[in-house]
Amino acid sequence: MHVIAVVNLKGGCGKTTVSTQLAARFARLGHRPLLVDLDKQKSATQWVSRRPADLPTIDILSQDADELEIPRGHAFVVMDVPAGLKKRLLEDVIRLADAIIVPVLPGAFDEGATARFLTTLEGFKPVRKGRRPVAVVGNRVRRGTAGERRLDVFLAGLSFPALAKLSDSQLYVSAADNGVTLFDQPVGRVRKALDEWKPLLTWVDEGLA
Ligand SMILES: Nc1ncnc2c1ncn2[C@@H]1O[C@H](COP(=O)(O)OP(=O)(O)OP(=O)(O)O)[C@@H](O)[C@H]1O
Ligand SMILES: [Mg+2]
Repeated sequence: MHVIAVVNLKGGCGKTTVSTQLAARFARLGHRPLLVDLDKQKSATQWVSRRPADLPTIDILSQDADELEIPRGHAFVVMDVPAGLKKRLLEDVIRLADAIIVPVLPGAFDEGATARFLTTLEGFKPVRKGRRPVAVVGNRVRRGTAGERRLDVFLAGLSFPALAKLSDSQLYVSAADNGVTLFDQPVGRVRKALDEWKPLLTWVDEGLA
């Protein structure tokens, strides 16, 4: 079993977006993944319920973060971890995860909160010792703006690799509405957005091999 946790204590940075995209990409590869929705908001669960039946299946498990337990039976598991999780529960997430992805939005507040979260993560021994690789993903990036330049400086100063910058795009908004992802659409329509995922997906695939 390979488990990826998508997590940041900061809300609204794209955890559910990244989780659903990754799960759909595993599904597209024929793996029938499990998406574990630990968030009381249940956004991932609702998204799966909107997913058209003819698309590759994503199994969903809706669970309270304080009762976290991953059932056997899925080779690939993606955890959508809620914002503001208590340290004790974060420890459970880190214990169960093989790899951790941290989305971050451009902007002083988001970057500041994420920097603090990354310091918290480094406080956990498995992370510090490199047994839980961490990748940071810039999200909702507006290309060519001061926000992007500021985010670049932020990402360059981190002790974890920044493996993707995902553009701010209506593709993600309509995907959220319709239970789909970039990975469910004709490549020609989403090529530019898909290209932005490549280094992260390589990291995921190599880390889980
Ligand atoms: N790259 C993007 N481009 C455009 N919109 C985006 C992008 N990523 C996320 N969004 C939108 O931003 C909002 C927040 O994203 P999302 O729900 O994935 O964040 P979250 O971290 O899961 O939030 P929460 O902490 O509330 O669970 C959603 O409306 C989503 O559709
Ligand atoms: Mg969410």
